[in-house]
Amino acid sequence: MRQLFVAGNWKMNLNGRQGIELAEALKAEFGDLEAVRLAVCPPFVYLKAVADALAGSAIGVGAQNMYTESEGAYTGEVAGPMLLDVGCRYVILGHSERRHVLGEGDGVINAKVLRALEFGLKPILCLGERLEQREAGETEDVVSGQLRAALEGVSAAQMAEVTMAYEPVWAIGTGRTATREQAEEVHGILRGLLAGIYSAELAERTIIQYGGSVKPENATDLMAMPNVDGALVGGASLKADAFAGIIRAACAVSK
Ligand code: PGA
Repeated sequence: MRQLFVAGNWKMNLNGRQGIELAEALKAEFGDLEAVRLAVCPPFVYLKAVADALAGSAIGVGAQNMYTESEGAYTGEVAGPMLLDVGCRYVILGHSERRHVLGEGDGVINAKVLRALEFGLKPILCLGERLEQREAGETEDVVSGQLRAALEGVSAAQMAEVTMAYEPVWAIGTGRTATREQAEEVHGILRGLLAGIYSAELAERTIIQYGGSVKPENATDLMAMPNVDGALVGGASLKADAFAGIIRAACAVSK
């Protein structure tokens, strides 16, 4: 039995007041929710304010990135212990915008996953293929390469803290969602890889979210698939009513 996990990735959106209002609206409706795990991931500068607004609720807070070092002369970077200090529990790593817009490679992502775990942060590890890779029939090779590289050196015990997120790059922010069959197929591949690297039991309990244009209208279909354990939501997590619709869908299909 896997608990569904719905997380909102706000990306570089909302100002402080809007972020706090959104957090307060979510807390009012879902602050005591136990059936589904919830988190929001605001920009660095608003993490503390949002974590304070959500204090005492079941809704966790995550960062969208972190640096590999714990302190030092790294102008512009933010360290894992700083994230913990402002109330973060999660950190999104390997997001396609960091891979493709900001040039992060598998080695950096692996280093960040290891450091996050060392610091006591729970990684939400994103992976997914680009459109041309899907069209060339390379999806399985791409996601398996990303998974193996990102989890190099991560122990079975540490995997209890890791959430995976399958995010086909062609579905992110495009309004073009993977069909539930496409999502289920890749989620099954990822779970099979985890079974091979670790164990069937570990694969069975690892949460694998889907991300890419998830909306209230398609959330039920996607999350009802046996291997889709929730959603990592970008655009639709910026409005309380849309995000609430996705959370309600997760509650309704809770497995
Ligand atoms: P989207 O973003 O829901 O806006 O497609 C998802 C993500 O990038 O995590």
